Amino acid sequence: MIESSTTTAAAPRALSRAEGRDRTQKGTCTAVVGLQWGDEGKGKIVDLLAADHDAVVRYNGGANAGHTVVVGDQKYALHLVPSGILYPGVMAVVGNGVVVDPEKLLEEIEGLEKRGVSTERLVVSSRAHVVAPYHKLEDEVRERLLTGGGKDGSIGTTKRGIGPCYADKAQRSSAIRVGDLLRPEALREKLEIACRFKRTRLVDIEVGDSLDPAKLTERLSAVGEKLRARVMDTTYLLHDMLGEGKRVLFEGGNATLLDVDHGTYPFVTSSNCTALGISTGTGVPGRRLDRVVGIMKAYSTRVGAGPMPTELLDATGNLLRERGREYGTTTGRPRRCGWLDLVAVRYSVMVNGVTEIALMLFDVLAGFDELQVCTAYEIARADGTTERTDRFPPDAVDLERVTPIYETLPGFGEEITGARGWDDLPAKAREYVEFVEKYLGVPVSIVSVGPGRGQTLVG
Ligand code: GDP
Ligand code: IMO
Ligand code: MG
Repeated sequence: MIESSTTTAAAPRALSRAEGRDRTQKGTCTAVVGLQWGDEGKGKIVDLLAADHDAVVRYNGGANAGHTVVVGDQKYALHLVPSGILYPGVMAVVGNGVVVDPEKLLEEIEGLEKRGVSTERLVVSSRAHVVAPYHKLEDEVRERLLTGGGKDGSIGTTKRGIGPCYADKAQRSSAIRVGDLLRPEALREKLEIACRFKRTRLVDIEVGDSLDPAKLTERLSAVGEKLRARVMDTTYLLHDMLGEGKRVLFEGGNATLLDVDHGTYPFVTSSNCTALGISTGTGVPGRRLDRVVGIMKAYSTRVGAGPMPTELLDATGNLLRERGREYGTTTGRPRRCGWLDLVAVRYSVMVNGVTEIALMLFDVLAGFDELQVCTAYEIARADGTTERTDRFPPDAVDLERVTPIYETLPGFGEEITGARGWDDLPAKAREYVEFVEKYLGVPVSIVSVGPGRGQTLVG
């Protein structure tokens, strides 16, 4: 059983300048965020950085995320459990901003325990919202409705119930939170209301027991009971840790261009995936962040629908997919592939306040004669003229109208998966990294040349 400290917060008082300085030196907060459309390799870098932190915290999204950590010949695909779980001394915190499918979480916990990974230090916010079985049905029905009737407007969601659960959170009256799973009577009342709402929406679909409040109460409170010892006020837990000088790492789910406010709306997920989501998703204010590590692939990928200016629907795109094994960690869907879009990434660097970059899957680019990098867009105006810009227009309708302008960089022939230091990289590969750094205006502090822990060059 894990207990959080029960101290109550002291009443605020004015600090002397020296006290203020001391206090800001206590604790360190690092964020890891994806700068593209997801699957940039966040799991690998969170695992790497977790060794130097006391807690790893998820603050957004849910089981739509699929973060891979490879240790020797063991591969772990994590969905709700933070990627710091492999370190026995590190707390793994599921923050209030996450939408938790409790059955999936339990399944993941049991899967890890079976593989000998202790999950003793995994805790969940009592205020995180619950993804119930009917949310997944709603996700499916909405996608189906959007596919029918002419133009396919579906988002290509992961069907994990993410959007419907966040919609209920905003709606309030039909929402269930993790803390509710521990109080069967109150849960039953809430489910009566939720099911009444859902029955009006889930017609023409096989619902099974998913809208039966009694059966749902039984099913969800049984899971709640198994999670009971892990459920707590994670906001106080994190502030207590920071007050003791502990180091906290925030793990972004999904990615910047899928952020509900700053992404390629409406082809986005339903949460704030950027570093901006950390404060609302955990209760730790943004000003506590000391370090924001932006994770980017050396090229672009996207799963699901929505504009992607540099997408390659040709043999080169297929080659990137095969070399990068670009198939979804959560759904197994083939990912759309294309050249690196620096216009998009520089926008993401800006909105996240990125302080350093981890350049991932760099090994995938070996063997190409030439590498294209998008450094500007040409936008077609209504009057037939065109405009060149290096600003990213996040709205899908605008982004659909852009044509990427490329610069060509020399390829590097040799495989680089064995590189262990900057000097092991061929000169042309180093040129690519320097080009990225210069364009983005932030240092590349990590270069990844393979999925393994050791296949990492740290600058
Ligand atoms: P995440 O969602 O951002 O954590 O990324 P995913 O785990 O969904 O997808 C990244 C994939 O790339 C995983 O299969 C990783 O094991 C793999 N990977 C991570 N870094 C590298 C790398 O540098 N090179 C190669 N070839 N694969 C990598
Ligand atoms: P990680 O954390 C890639 C995409 C889906 C879909 C859209 C909305 O592994 O990088 P949702 O189920 O969230 O309503 O789907 O967002 N998407 C991701 N794509 N990686 C992810 O997470 C994603 N999470 C959501 O494919 O297009
Ligand atoms: Mg992923």
